[in-house]
Amino acid sequence: MATTVALTGASGFIGGTIAHDLRNAGYSVQALVRSPEQEKKLKEAGIQPILGELEKPQSLLEFVKNCQFVIHCAGTIRGSNRAAFQPTNVDGVSHLIQACLAQPSPPSFVLLSSLAAREPALSPYAWSKHEGEKTLFREAGSMKWVIFRPPAVYGPHDKALLPLFKLIDNGIGLQLGPSDARFSLIHVKDLSEAILRWLVKGSPAATIFEVDDGVPGGYSWEKVFKTINPHIRLHLHCPPGLLRAAGLTNEILARLFRYAPMLTTGKVNELLHPNWVCDSSPVRQALDWKPQIPLAKGLRHLFTSDNLME
Ligand SMILES: NC(=O)c1ccc[n+]([C@@H]2O[C@H](COP(=O)([O-])OP(=O)(O)OC[C@H]3O[C@@H](n4cnc5c(N)ncnc54)[C@H](OP(=O)(O)O)[C@@H]3O)[C@@H](O)[C@H]2O)c1
Repeated sequence: MATTVALTGASGFIGGTIAHDLRNAGYSVQALVRSPEQEKKLKEAGIQPILGELEKPQSLLEFVKNCQFVIHCAGTIRGSNRAAFQPTNVDGVSHLIQACLAQPSPPSFVLLSSLAAREPALSPYAWSKHEGEKTLFREAGSMKWVIFRPPAVYGPHDKALLPLFKLIDNGIGLQLGPSDARFSLIHVKDLSEAILRWLVKGSPAATIFEVDDGVPGGYSWEKVFKTINPHIRLHLHCPPGLLRAAGLTNEILARLFRYAPMLTTGKVNELLHPNWVCDSSPVRQALDWKPQIPLAKGLRHLFTSDNLME
């Protein structure tokens, strides 16, 4: 019988890729969904949808029933204060753990965190990812677990980085952080492959893995510009003051018009942070995993649909 994985966030960017890769690898996937539309879509993709929400603990009991693994990939990524992130990114982790522990044989638990968890003071989002991890340390008991901390993730269906990459592809280098900032990146397929490797190995447990595309020391803005487009026509460096003003304005507009903002003062703090570089050598060694998609290739695929695996 196929191994069953209960996956949250399957209707999103990263979770959608993981769901697809799990299916291709022969796993049976049951996915937590919040809407009948998503329920229908996933069913058509051969995934068993289970209606529920992280805020509704009772719905999670059915979701994790009879599974050997839980991959917790759902998360709130937009919002301006802790109250916006806590229900999903902190309390949701706890509810899911409790549902797992209520099973006769608790599954192994994979938490998709973020590199942002390293710097909880920077933003409400970073705080919530840090608290989500702490919740897992505190509540997991004897349940086997692992945490993956990716940096910025890109790939098909990503809505956050694609507009910026397209601008650069069109010759406009919009720099949203300091010139000396360094950051890592990872293609969503490589992230998914690392997680699937852990499912096969099942070890090491109780570990936090940082994962990136294997570029030592990560990227500077300049390096990203040159990789995407060696012929930048216009280099626009957004000054910190302007970024902060934009974040604050967006927060006010979000409150007035009741939407969940992406660009906030917290997000600006993250953008201005000088070091978002991963060290993925431990995960490469432990899981015998190697990222396969260098930035240039991943972007070519995004822009032209070239075969990713050639
Ligand atoms: N994208 C990145 O660069 C990046 C980097 C590091 C870490 N991460 C982490 O990766 C995870 C996924 O990010 P993403 O970029 O794929 O985000 P996304 O595209 O916005 O997907 C978020 C997913 O979470 C689900 N979700 C949100 N709140 C939920 C709730 N209360 N109950 C059940 N499901 C809920 C959404 O379901 P609906 O479709 O119903 O809204 C959606 O499937 C997040 O935990 C994020 O913190 C992302």
